[in-house]
Amino acid sequence: MKGGNTFRLRGRSLSLTLAVLIVTTIAIWAWEKNPFANSLLSAQELYTIPTSEFHVGSQNDSVVSMKPTEKIEENMSHSIITEETKGEEKFGTAPVDAISAFSPEMIDSDAHVISSSKSKVCNYAKGRWVADSRRPLYSGFGCKQWLSKMWACRLTQRKDFSYEGYRWQPENCDMPKFEKSTFLQRMQDKTIAFIGDSLGRQQFQSLMCMATGGEESPEVENVGKKYGLVKARGAIRPDGWAYRFTKTNTTILYYWSASLSDLVPLNISDPSTDVAMHLDRPPAFMRRFLLHFDVLVLNTGHHWNRGKLNANRWVMHVDGKPNEDKKRAEIGHAKNFTVYSVVRWLDSQLPSHPHLKAFFRTISPRHFANGDWNTGGSCNNTTPLAGGSEVMQDGSSDPLVEGAVKGTAVKILDITAVSQLRDEGHISHYSLRGNLNVSDCLHWCLPGIPDAWNELLIAQI
Ligand SMILES: *[C@@H]1O[C@H](CO)[C@@H](O)[C@H](O)[C@H]1NC(C)=O
Ligand SMILES: *[C@@H]1O[C@H](CO)[C@@H](O)[C@H](O)[C@H]1NC(C)=O
Ligand SMILES: *[C@@H]1O[C@H](CO)[C@@H](O)[C@H](O)[C@H]1NC(C)=O
Ligand SMILES: *[C@@H]1O[C@H](CO)[C@@H](O)[C@H](O)[C@H]1NC(C)=O
Ligand SMILES: *[C@@H]1O[C@H](CO)[C@@H](O)[C@H](O)[C@H]1NC(C)=O
Ligand SMILES: *[C@@H]1O[C@H](CO)[C@@H](O)[C@H](O)[C@H]1NC(C)=O
Ligand SMILES: *[C@@H]1O[C@H](CO)[C@@H](O)[C@H](O)[C@H]1NC(C)=O
Repeated sequence: MKGGNTFRLRGRSLSLTLAVLIVTTIAIWAWEKNPFANSLLSAQELYTIPTSEFHVGSQNDSVVSMKPTEKIEENMSHSIITEETKGEEKFGTAPVDAISAFSPEMIDSDAHVISSSKSKVCNYAKGRWVADSRRPLYSGFGCKQWLSKMWACRLTQRKDFSYEGYRWQPENCDMPKFEKSTFLQRMQDKTIAFIGDSLGRQQFQSLMCMATGGEESPEVENVGKKYGLVKARGAIRPDGWAYRFTKTNTTILYYWSASLSDLVPLNISDPSTDVAMHLDRPPAFMRRFLLHFDVLVLNTGHHWNRGKLNANRWVMHVDGKPNEDKKRAEIGHAKNFTVYSVVRWLDSQLPSHPHLKAFFRTISPRHFANGDWNTGGSCNNTTPLAGGSEVMQDGSSDPLVEGAVKGTAVKILDITAVSQLRDEGHISHYSLRGNLNVSDCLHWCLPGIPDAWNELLIAQI
């Protein structure tokens, strides 16, 4: 489908519609037989993702003196490692049930056919990366107010930055050039919310950097308190951040919810208690503040593995009771159930929130080669677009999100295939304090690929 496939479908002529549909259907059949034949990743890598929320900086090399802010980041990443991935040493390999849950046979074929025939008009995810000398949109040496140091590759030993010099050009859609003042004016009196995992946080930081141009911006006000986003006593960080651009009264916020399910400790006064993970109930934060949002971008994916659930003591609940459905207890099914549930809930809310534009961002691809994150996997390529620059398929490479939003008013923000072409844009083995023995082929350098996700988002709001 991408990278040298033969089906180039151009034009919108009505007479072509039938042909397009037939060709697409055939292409989809082929794709379903072997969805990842033409890509760098296997289906297993894309959809099982054992451990992903792992942060470089976890190595025991953090003794060098650091500024306070950096220490916080270190503590954060450390806490993420220890709290979020504690169980992963034990449960490091991909859970088998997750693999089987997303085997190609289980992909809903209708989802592809219908969405691809609908998306003829303008599919932002279909197009190509083009070199652009006016990139990046902000300097990787700047944006210190918003950009986590662990993701600022310009501050590491990395020497190649050609990955910064591209923009995404959809084939059949207008893609306005990003201009921060135009963007903020358009977003006057509006609130943009990201809810999801660390990849959602990357997109949030990217948008903050884009909107400020990466410049020191004293006029941006921290309004976390308004959303209860304050560091609790004993906590290492708040559950999110919210900032308001005072001139245009634009708020951009991020809330950490790795699974998009409501997490409720079973016994609030017992710190070692299990946590009910309500698969059919969106996070309380989202239910409470939805009415304040004008744009909402959800994502999940990389936290759905048995190790993380166990390490966090998350116990699946459905209907307010512990889940007893054995099939649903399998990680892949639980994730599917949750994604469908949260989309259905959001869709049901949209009529009473007519100003809200809701997006579900598709999964961000990983690029570990020759091993996984904990077995020496790496992503050393530094040549942009070595595997091709175009996405030619009509359907999404994330059938889960594509299927869940189908027939709802929740929109897909499809970045999977787009990002899959950019294996050189990850953090790789670089860190602030030298090169590491492990690679982060999940998170992206900033400025970088998530900037394009935001341009895709902005084009669609
Ligand atoms: C790792 O860090 C701990 C505490 O900072 C220290 O006691 C230990 O010696 C370190 N280990 C290595 C291998 O540097
Ligand atoms: C980082 O965490 C350690 C314990 O894990 C704590 O003692 C220290 O105060 C924390 N530092 C910051 C800056 O939060
Ligand atoms: C800022 O925008 C919000 C809507 O997002 C609105 O409720 C509020 O009144 C605005 N504040 C000012 C000072 O205009
Ligand atoms: C909750 O935890 C506290 C502290 O461990 C304990 O005293 C209490 O009995 C627990 N409550 C329930 C309902 O289990
Ligand atoms: C995901 O859930 C939806 C809705 O319940 C269902 O129609 C679909 O078959 C499920 N897909 C998988 C792969 O389990
Ligand atoms: C780097 O990791 C490999 C396994 O992935 C290990 O065999 C090797 O000893 C490590 N090297 C250092 C310097 O820690
Ligand atoms: C990638 O680079 C790292 C660090 O230089 C090295 O250990 C690893 O073997 C390289 N991987 C490949 C596939 O070349």
